[in-house]
Amino acid sequence: MPAIAIIGAQWGDEGKGKATDLLGSRVDYVVKFNGGNNAGHTVVIGDEKYALHLLPSGILSPNCTPVIGNGVVVDLDVLFEELDGLTARGVDVSKLRISASAHVIPSYNRALDKVTERFLGSRRLGTTGRGIGPTYADKMNRIGIRIQDLFDESILRKKVEGALDLKGQILTKVYNRRAPEVDEIVGELLAHVDRLRPMVCDTGLLLNQALVRDEIVLLEGGQATLLDVDHGTYPFVTSSSATSAGACTGSGIPPNRLDQVIGIIKAYTTRVGEGPFPTELFDDAGAHLSKIGAEFGVTTGRARRCGWYDSVIARYAARVNGVTDFVLTKLDVLTGFDQVPICVAYEVNGVRHDEMPVNQSDFHHAVPIYEYLPGWWEDISECRTFEELPANARAYVERAEELSGARISVVGVGPSRDATIVRHELL
Ligand code: IMP
Repeated sequence: MPAIAIIGAQWGDEGKGKATDLLGSRVDYVVKFNGGNNAGHTVVIGDEKYALHLLPSGILSPNCTPVIGNGVVVDLDVLFEELDGLTARGVDVSKLRISASAHVIPSYNRALDKVTERFLGSRRLGTTGRGIGPTYADKMNRIGIRIQDLFDESILRKKVEGALDLKGQILTKVYNRRAPEVDEIVGELLAHVDRLRPMVCDTGLLLNQALVRDEIVLLEGGQATLLDVDHGTYPFVTSSSATSAGACTGSGIPPNRLDQVIGIIKAYTTRVGEGPFPTELFDDAGAHLSKIGAEFGVTTGRARRCGWYDSVIARYAARVNGVTDFVLTKLDVLTGFDQVPICVAYEVNGVRHDEMPVNQSDFHHAVPIYEYLPGWWEDISECRTFEELPANARAYVERAEELSGARISVVGVGPSRDATIVRHELL
């Protein structure tokens, strides 16, 4: 039985939560393997809308065990806030398992994230300010605090002292801010330790044993391909591995167990934060996509930048992740245009690029080369088969598929759970 990864193919916010939820009732485990509460999934079930930042969206499927893997960075206050919020709405959260090796986000890293962005001024990255980058930096720097450290107070104290030796200096001497006391941080980290204890285990072992028992494990990527620290538009990226290889590192599942990689891709493109975005629109069409697509961040409320579908990015995501199936989301948002452009390649200083330019500055200067497809005006939100779509909408999907390097197996036509057209079953 397979391990399946769900990966964002653009700059995030492609609607991964919906795709995960589509499979959720058939899978046994849903694993978050990277990122932290910088993510934001919106899942709509019936009339209920759930906005999740840290928890895997599988938490809403009663038969599924949600797992926070070792590759995640955990803000404990946010974790318990989300768990309490769901419990108050009648969701059973008792199955959640958290890796003993996941790192925690101490408050000094939230402070450092915000103050660094302010300090960078016009060179800022537009981070979510949740302490994600500094916490991954600590992990690589080997001064991070892991979930397992919370269960031995003397070890925890030593680790916090070690971290604050460096980070306290940065806060006071570089940024002229107050450095927290060791006791303050230890107290804050231990605040939820008793509630945390029963949830913590070796999640790598748990998941591999599940695969041996022929159970289905779904690895749910936070952020997306172009925000991946290695394969994204560096430095305008997040600090974790958001691609399919990261699904293995961040969960402890070996690469040869990964059978299927589902790339989630919006029928147009959005991005939050700073950084290059070749098909970005600054006109009425962009404002229309933003309004009809409700393109505001779930986590920060920031307006997302909007642009046309970019098949160069799609092909790149297909290649980097080994995408086996695309889920094309929000096709309904493209209803009502005379023509719908698809970016097929870029022009950079007079040279055509069919693939992602290797240099950051070339990508910054990439001018999209568009193919213009005829639009459609019919409401497609009630369509449930591909044949029910207007001919021009079908042609748009088929052309996007030809250009994108993998088949488009599912098409989203509205926000609700059932507003979906399945062309090829995912499982
Ligand atoms: P960080 O992850 O907070 O460090 O932010 C780094 C970059 O990633 C910023 O441009 C964020 O806007 C972007 N980012 C982080 N998480 C998400 C997400 O879930 N969706 C879209 N963009 C994100």
